[in-house]
Amino acid sequence: MTTTYAVLSEGLEKRFGQVRAVRGLDLAVARGTVCGILGPNGAGKTTAVRLLTTLLRPDAGSARIAGHDLVRQAAAVRRSIGVTGQYASVDGDLTGRENLRLFARLHRVRGPAQRAGELLDRFGLAEAADRPVSTYSGGMRRRLDLAASLVRRPEVLFLDEPTTGLDPASRNRIWDAVRELKAQGTTVLLTTQYLEEADRLADDIALVDRGRVARTGSPARFKALIGAHVEVVVADADVLTGAADVLGRLTGGRPAFDRERSAVGAVTGDPALTLPRLVREMDAAGVPLLDASVRPPTLDDVFLRLTEDLAGDRTDGPADDEERAA
Ligand SMILES: Nc1ncnc2c1ncn2[C@@H]1O[C@H](COP(=O)(O)OP(=O)(O)OP(=O)(O)O)[C@@H](O)[C@H]1O
Ligand SMILES: [Mg+2]
Repeated sequence: MTTTYAVLSEGLEKRFGQVRAVRGLDLAVARGTVCGILGPNGAGKTTAVRLLTTLLRPDAGSARIAGHDLVRQAAAVRRSIGVTGQYASVDGDLTGRENLRLFARLHRVRGPAQRAGELLDRFGLAEAADRPVSTYSGGMRRRLDLAASLVRRPEVLFLDEPTTGLDPASRNRIWDAVRELKAQGTTVLLTTQYLEEADRLADDIALVDRGRVARTGSPARFKALIGAHVEVVVADADVLTGAADVLGRLTGGRPAFDRERSAVGAVTGDPALTLPRLVREMDAAGVPLLDASVRPPTLDDVFLRLTEDLAGDRTDGPADDEERAA
């Protein structure tokens, strides 16, 4: 049976004592796509991944992974997925090659030695292959971990912060691997702190806040929530506040200061706020400029704005039971 969604969850809940780590997670990831899960620290991303990969049992809710029921068909779910956790799961006493062979044998992959060799090459670990993993750098371990989760060519791959702390070259290798997997039809669900990563890899983004999906959409749709990012650099730090006042009035947004650069920026949805108009208005207010720009928003701009909004909702909204308990 084919289903449209590789991951489909409804109302998943997980509580640790008083903490509701995941509280009603609804997620739909279409087959063959890459879904980026974004959210602040403690939002419940890792818990969501652990639930969806059968490492934790949900308190409530349901999910289907690759068409299998998460709880009733947990073994079938495990056979369909690969997982790379936020923390490495490979054995430090074994070499990289031994680790991959072991995984391959455990999963009854044909030609375990050949598969291990392929993956070591692909992740740039051929030279270090016969050294114990305890001598690997953090980035090498991370790559080995990802290689281990690919030993079986999973239908759905879960990656929890796959590139956190990696150097640009290692990060690029992982990005390439994700793109390649997607091209081969694998569905990838990845959590990340890096918006650039989501922007480059993800077809869809789910913004998670306090154990729930607060918003979903493509990176482009997220960016369309904000028209432009406007910034001015002033010649004299004394006029920064004056510049911020003008910017606030023009954009209707809350200006953000970068005092080191004597700069102030804000986001706007107003398409009439062009660069010439910005310069004219600053000039009229007597603010001498060194530089000014109106550019398309980055996902970072959007994320900042959205998390500000969510933080606003938090103070306005009714208290939660865990907050009441605290
Ligand atoms: N085993 C556990 N026992 C108790 N509380 C937990 C446990 N695992 C997670 N939590 C709590 O659940 C909440 C969500 O944690 P989780 O690790 O899922 O967040 P996260 O979004 O992955 O954060 P990060 O970005 O820091 O990785 C946090 O408040 C955390 O302290
Ligand atoms: Mg986490």
